[in-house]
Amino acid sequence: MVTVRRMQKEDIPDVMDVERASFPVPWDSGTFEKEVDGNPYAHYFVIEKDEHVFGYCGLWVIIDEAHVTNIAIHPDSRGQQYGEKLFRHACQEAIEHGAIQLSLEVRVSNTAAQHMYRKFGLVPGGIRKRYYSDNGEDALVMWVGLK
Ligand SMILES: CC(C)(COP(=O)(O)OP(=O)(O)OC[C@H]1O[C@@H](n2cnc3c(N)ncnc32)[C@H](O)[C@@H]1OP(=O)(O)O)[C@@H](O)C(=O)NCCC(=O)NCCS
Repeated sequence: MVTVRRMQKEDIPDVMDVERASFPVPWDSGTFEKEVDGNPYAHYFVIEKDEHVFGYCGLWVIIDEAHVTNIAIHPDSRGQQYGEKLFRHACQEAIEHGAIQLSLEVRVSNTAAQHMYRKFGLVPGGIRKRYYSDNGEDALVMWVGLK
């Protein structure tokens, strides 16, 4: 069975596999450790099947605003609605922690993620020029009001 639950420190090696397979400039494990253990605003979740973690999503909730820091599904498990399941869980948690709006940045070229976000009602709110340091790509800011 596929389940979503809160990320623990012990999940970080599996999360790093997802991270390295998903992003040109992956976070290091120390960053995840700080997010999981040392950041009171951070909420991180993993998606797993048979105790194997194959995706994660993180968000910060500050007062009534949620910001998605990252979401990724391992390439071997994409296209099976798992990203959607994980993102739905994250949005629900944001609401439960008092958020009334949610935002994120996404590469302008990342149409797969943008399509998923649009399914959740997120709309473009602006561009952050040259936001990504690896190739100078712009970020599209997307946001949604939460009910
Ligand atoms: C974005 C990501 C998390 C989606 O996860 P996923 O499990 O593959 O997505 P799902 O199967 O749940 O699909 C949900 C929706 O996303 C969109 N989508 C997913 N893959 C897509 C693709 N290759 N092309 C276009 N749209 C796509 C679709 O709208 C899809 O809904 P549909 O199946 O009804 O058409 C995944 O592609 C990923 O990890 N990408 C690399 C990391 C990344 O870019 N993260 C986002 C950073 S802002």
